[in-house]
Amino acid sequence: MGKDVIIALDFPSANEVYAFLDRFGGESRKPFVKIGMELFYAAGAEVVREVKRRGHKVFLDLKLHDIPNTVKRSMSVLSGLDADMCNLHAGGGSAMMKAALKGLTRADGSRPLLIAVTQLTSTSEEVMHNELWIDRPLDETVMHYASLAADAGLDGVVCSPLEAGKVHERCGKKFLTVTPGIRFDDASKGDQVRVTTPAKARELGSDYIVVGRPVTAAEDPVAAYRRCVAEFCGE
Ligand code: C5P
Repeated sequence: MGKDVIIALDFPSANEVYAFLDRFGGESRKPFVKIGMELFYAAGAEVVREVKRRGHKVFLDLKLHDIPNTVKRSMSVLSGLDADMCNLHAGGGSAMMKAALKGLTRADGSRPLLIAVTQLTSTSEEVMHNELWIDRPLDETVMHYASLAADAGLDGVVCSPLEAGKVHERCGKKFLTVTPGIRFDDASKGDQVRVTTPAKARELGSDYIVVGRPVTAAEDPVAAYRRCVAEFCGE
């Protein structure tokens, strides 16, 4: 599977998304894009259909976490939207993850990639210990959840590029690492703490980088996207 750059479409409305994507109209390579909860809840499934009609691959970042039957049926709906990648919380357990895979599988046997969120980067070790009552160290918990996802048959995890090597070591080279926290070396970090350039993410073994503001807030988003592709995919 080739490496790719995923642009996070963190816009509040469908119209802003379409205006942004119009700028890529002349590109032969239509960017792979990520649609998150804010946009999905605001604009609904139609935004996914329209972005797909425009020829983009879509990562639906909706992080499902519910009882297995509900997740299975919901994933089946998302698969019907022709999403290319979906995700869920590994904390829902193996039965939920296996049910999600079943729900995603279409009649012809194809399905979107399924990626697990391990522990959110906003969860500190202190919160994990004191609120969630998970006594193990945070990094061990993250790796354990990654293994659980791999054993359930999922395709990969969301993680930092700095963890990509460890994830591949533990779960195999083919287990995908989808990595946010990307910044160009000449730009500000924004609210991200641990950041990596696209070139460094490639070096560290990331399979997909998720890039938001360095592209969406750039003066020339198409040029910024091309720069990501050049650095990360080597094209
Ligand atoms: O604008 P920026 O490049 O920081 O956007 C990164 C994207 O990746 C956002 O959509 C953010 O929600 C998502 N993300 C993240 N860190 C995680 C998981 C997801 O930045 N641990």
